[in-house]
Amino acid sequence: MAIWIYGVLFALRLSSVLGAVKSGSGIASNTISELTTRGPHFDQTASKNVTALLGKTAYLNCRVKNLANRTMSLQVSWVRHRDVHLLTVGRYTYTSDQRFRAIHQPHSEDWTLQIKYPQHRDSGIYECQVSSTPHLSHFIHLTVIEPDTEIVGAPELFIDRGSTINLTCVVRHSPEPPAYIFWNHNDAIITYSSSRGGVSVATERGETSRSVLLIQKARPTDSGTYQCNPSNAKSANVTVHVLNGEQPEAMQHGGNQRMGPSLGALAFICYVLLVYC
Ligand SMILES: *[C@@H]1O[C@H](CO)[C@@H](O)[C@H](O)[C@H]1NC(C)=O
Ligand SMILES: *[C@@H]1O[C@H](CO)[C@@H](O)[C@H](O)[C@H]1NC(C)=O
Ligand SMILES: *[C@@H]1O[C@H](CO)[C@@H](O)[C@H](O)[C@H]1NC(C)=O
Ligand SMILES: *[C@@H]1O[C@H](CO)[C@@H](O)[C@H](O)[C@H]1NC(C)=O
Repeated sequence: MAIWIYGVLFALRLSSVLGAVKSGSGIASNTISELTTRGPHFDQTASKNVTALLGKTAYLNCRVKNLANRTMSLQVSWVRHRDVHLLTVGRYTYTSDQRFRAIHQPHSEDWTLQIKYPQHRDSGIYECQVSSTPHLSHFIHLTVIEPDTEIVGAPELFIDRGSTINLTCVVRHSPEPPAYIFWNHNDAIITYSSSRGGVSVATERGETSRSVLLIQKARPTDSGTYQCNPSNAKSANVTVHVLNGEQPEAMQHGGNQRMGPSLGALAFICYVLLVYC
């Protein structure tokens, strides 16, 4: 009997939680000022949107002020908006998806949703809901991002012998700026003090980080695969071809060149020869 009543109460609570989710905009029309002075309300500054890194555990926090008082005992639930899926109720994790977990310390105002191994499809809106009458909702946007590494001009660069190889590696969306960015040439780490000389690297770290590898007076032996290895993001590579042999005079000053202009110049010379000889 007791179990049955408890079951009914629980079901009622769930249906009221879900009902409030579906009622949508009705929630917003609460008289906020009244609730913030007396009843439960959200601490917006401690319940912010979250940007999480792919695969790295994310925490969505919901801080509720004035939740418990002598007359009322209210539940805080987390609901995924995409499919109106009830994830947690109080300290109970309701979903069968093991990646989700409710975290709440006794006497704390924080009701945290933990998401392990977040994937791109987890991006979206999550609703923190208080089972008061009327229901209170706070929406948190989760954005799951992936660090991205790119070498400008990849996958292939054509460079004239004698000019400067200028490789720029750009790292975006890393959780924090990479501690270091290594460069490899044909799988060997590039040392700036090598006998080759004329090799320098400038790294600029920030929200977007850049590492610029400069190799002066390119030689055919500088050809091959260059790989940029940031400490906390995936690597990127570029294949460099140092063009050996005779180049038209103008090309010597060109720096990094795609095959296009070089072929164009050859075609032009052939055309001139055909017309005038
Ligand atoms: C307890 O919370 C309820 C629901 O928010 C509110 O209506 C009531 O005024 C509160 N009581 C006290 C004593 O704060
Ligand atoms: C959360 O993100 C959404 C969508 O980007 C935005 O509309 C909303 O203002 C953001 N909320 C906060 C508190 O920054
Ligand atoms: C190297 O290339 C970047 C653009 O990719 C440019 O901003 C920079 O000035 C170049 N550096 C040199 C020394 O040519
Ligand atoms: C170079 O990068 C491409 C993707 O841009 C990848 O498919 C390839 O396996 C990489 N090669 C090496 C040697 O890392």
